[in-house]
Amino acid sequence: MGVVVPLEQGRTDPEASLDDLVRLVAGGMERVNTTILSRTGSDVAMIPEVANHLIASGGKRLRPILTLACADLTGYAGGDGAVKLAAAVEFMHTATLLHDDVVDESDMRRGRVAARIKWGNEASVLVGDFLLGQAFRMMVEVGSLRALDILSAAATVIAEGEVMQLTAAKNTETSEDEYLAVIRGKTAELFAAACEVGPVLAGRPEAEQAACRAYGMNLGIAFQLIDDVLDYGGTSAALGKNVGDDFREGKITLPIVLALRRATDEERVFWRRTLEREELEEGDLEQALTILRRHRTLEDTMDRARHYGDAARAALDIFADGPVKAALLQAVDFCIARAH
Ligand code: IPE
Ligand code: IPE
Ligand code: MG
Ligand code: MG
Repeated sequence: MGVVVPLEQGRTDPEASLDDLVRLVAGGMERVNTTILSRTGSDVAMIPEVANHLIASGGKRLRPILTLACADLTGYAGGDGAVKLAAAVEFMHTATLLHDDVVDESDMRRGRVAARIKWGNEASVLVGDFLLGQAFRMMVEVGSLRALDILSAAATVIAEGEVMQLTAAKNTETSEDEYLAVIRGKTAELFAAACEVGPVLAGRPEAEQAACRAYGMNLGIAFQLIDDVLDYGGTSAALGKNVGDDFREGKITLPIVLALRRATDEERVFWRRTLEREELEEGDLEQALTILRRHRTLEDTMDRARHYGDAARAALDIFADGPVKAALLQAVDFCIARAH
């Protein structure tokens, strides 16, 4: 591939780190990881094999970290509930990754060959279903009907986002609003739910639940906007997944929506051929990057991400200052400056 668009802003910002947040919830995350490993068990040997291939290759564990942090932020007294819900959230995420790589025909995930390449699409889909089922069992064990309501609603909204994307993909008429509806569904909703269940478990008032939800929603939108930039401007080594997948699949993400809006007639012909008809030729990805650079659409997408990042930060205004709040604010910078 070898095509890298330098994204200078933010990369060297020492404040843009997850370290503080990771440190603050380290004890809880150890229990989350133990829970995750124990819940992939099954007499059907292929299930732990496939699940552990993906789970053992890491991942940032961002969503369960957010669940624990939002529970801490709102004074949750500890106990198993937040750990189980955090593990359930990561299982939902893992299931969507297994399904997503089938839908997107992706070959690489978390720096390893995707499960679907090793075991096939069928196994990926079915093991994803198993993990989703386990996630719901854990939620039921926690016994908060409200948390179950929030997370089960999220599961349906994620699927809606993915299906919406199926119809938007390859359509060069896709608007910015349609794109935003897709990413709210497929990505931001789980961030929102992961954050909201913290204050729910802590028994905090509606205003605090809504604030954590708004933080997660806006952070999730920013996170996916940056993901879509990285698919053109990142490196496969840092990302652990192939750069350029979105272009090869004809996926219309915001950098493309903006480039289409500003396109010359000649550029429009190029986008129709590559994205709508998927008639790809040698050098097309480089050509796409040249056009995106010409119209500065990766930078503009990053600006949009910063806007949602600001909204995420503002959502935490109602909480008193403290180390968890400070670390959640830093996590916003991480999500925007991230390279992986
Ligand atoms: C990948 O999410 C899917 C998107 C929403 C872009 P992450 O980047 O959080 O994936 P892992 O868990 O760290 O691998
Ligand atoms: C991210 O999907 C959201 C889900 C996994 C549901 P993408 O397809 O945009 O993410 P990557 O690039 O494969 O991680
Ligand atoms: Mg996808
Ligand atoms: Mg994908």
